[in-house]
Parts: sequence; C-alpha cells; structure tokens
Amino acid sequence: MKGVILAGGKGTRLYPLTASTNKHLVAIGDVPMIEYPLHTLRKMGINDLSVVTGGEHFSDVQRYLSMVHPSINFSYYCQTNASGIAKALEAAKPVLNGGKIAVVLGDNILEEDFTDAAREFEDSDLGAMLFLKPGREDDLYFTDANGIRRARFGIVEVMGGKVISIEEKPVHPKSNLVSVGLYFYDQTVFDKIKTLKPSSRGEYEITGVSDLYLQEGRLGYHLVNGFWGDAGTFKSRAICEEFVKQNLQAEVLEEMIERENDELLKKNLG
Ligand code: DAU
Repeated sequence: MKGVILAGGKGTRLYPLTASTNKHLVAIGDVPMIEYPLHTLRKMGINDLSVVTGGEHFSDVQRYLSMVHPSINFSYYCQTNASGIAKALEAAKPVLNGGKIAVVLGDNILEEDFTDAAREFEDSDLGAMLFLKPGREDDLYFTDANGIRRARFGIVEVMGGKVISIEEKPVHPKSNLVSVGLYFYDQTVFDKIKTLKPSSRGEYEITGVSDLYLQEGRLGYHLVNGFWGDAGTFKSRAICEEFVKQNLQAEVLEEMIERENDELLKKNLG
C-alpha cells in the first residue's frame, strides 16, 4: 500500500502556536506532531509516502521532513484552499494512482500497529476500511460557530458487525464510536471525491466519502486498540502529550535515530 499524510488545514484551533508555522510541526512531547502519523504508516511497512499540505507553510513542512528524514523520498502535494479533508486527499491523486492506499490525518496519534489490518484489507474485496474507537466522554463535544453543541468527530453506528451510519459532527450522535483519522481506500475513492458536495459548514467531508462506500456495501471497520488522540485543540493536545511522553515518543525516537543515524538527534534525545 501507498501512504498519505494529510497535513493541510488552517490550524486555527491551535492559534497562536500556528501563527507562523504549520500545525503539524507543533511539538507533541519532544517531536513535531507529524512524526506520529508518519510512524503509524512506517510501522505498517509503508515506505511510499506522500504528504499534502497547505500553501502557506508548505515549505516549512518540506524543509522539516527533508532535513530530519533524508532517507525517505516523500512526494509533496499542495492543497491551495483548506476546503476539507476529502479535497486534501484528491490533491495527492497523481502519485496514488494504482493499488490501495492508507490515509492518515496529520494530527492523529495512534498507538496500535495496523500491519495485520492492512494485510486483511489488501486481501479483501472491501473498498474502504474505517478505524473506530469510543470517544472520551470529556472530549467528545464542542460548540460550533452557531452556538450549537455537537460531537466534534465523525460518529459511526455499528450493528451486527456492520457499519450502518456515519455522520460528521452530529448534534445527536447515534453512538460514541468515533471514526479516527486513519482510512484505507481502494482507487475508486477519487471518483467518489469528485461527486461530493460541500457540507453545511462548507467542507468536502471525508465522512461523505465513507458514506458512499457504505451505500455500495463495501465499507469495513476495525476497532482500534490502545491509545488514540487528535492533537488539534489545546485540550486534546494536552491529552496526547501526556500519553506520548509516557509511551509512544520513545518508540518514535528510537525508530528515527536508528533509520536516519542522526548524531544530533542521538545526542539531544537518544
Ligand atoms: O480526528 C478524527 C476526525 O478528524 C474525524 O472523526 C472526522 O470525521 C474528520 O472530519 C476530522 O475531523 P476534524 O474536525 O478533527 O478535522 P480537522 O479540520 O481538524 O482536520 C484534521 C486534519 O486533516 C488536519 O490535521 C489536516 C487535514 N486537513 C484538514 C482540512 C480541513 C487537510 O489536510 N486539509 C483540510 O482542508
């Protein structure tokens, strides 16, 4: 499988940390946020990697990754308008043509090794796979621009081992199962993105893509083991930071130091 990290968007919920750089370069523990989704893909054995980021801080992301990860030959794509996650994925279409793909959101931190899930998906007839985790009660809701309280994630309803509904940021969530920021897709994803219309908040939603697979009866799911967090708000970033400092950060650093043989990294953090 090929892998893509979506690292565009405006990062307004982490302002002022994002005033002068891309959200995914903000530190979580001792390394930038983007190291965690990168590690998630690398752990699955994915070496063919693309990164999509916005125009404003595109060069910051490229400079960081090329300096710290010289051994990885990333393909870079620019999403000129932050018009939604589905459109970010579409920006990477040129390199992703052919085969199945794994997509990870650049602010998502996952502990599990998804190697087996990736193999199962590749061998299956499924068109897409979602990754689900019960949301934390104390971090499941937000108040939108119209003052309405909503779940702050894509919420999935499962019955009899099948996904039966998926909704982006519902007011009345039908379950507590969050669609976390990892998705496996086949190549029809790009035809599906083309048919999407902007949601009521004006974004091309990734949940809309999953809903099209659901209607085709080709949507599978995997229940996530271990930690999951999205580091896109100050509250959730604090939750992620607490976790990575105790757990994941050491594994990420070990892999970085070993692969890149980076003396400075070894001296500072090894
Ligand atoms: O964290 C999981 C959730 O992520 C899912 O449950 C939701 O279904 C999904 O829509 C998403 O919701 P968020 O509101 O958290 O998405 P956010 O706008 O924070 O974007 C998440 C990442 O996607 C961000 O770190 C970078 C990338 N992105 C986002 C947008 C809007 C892009 O690359 N381009 C974009 O235009």
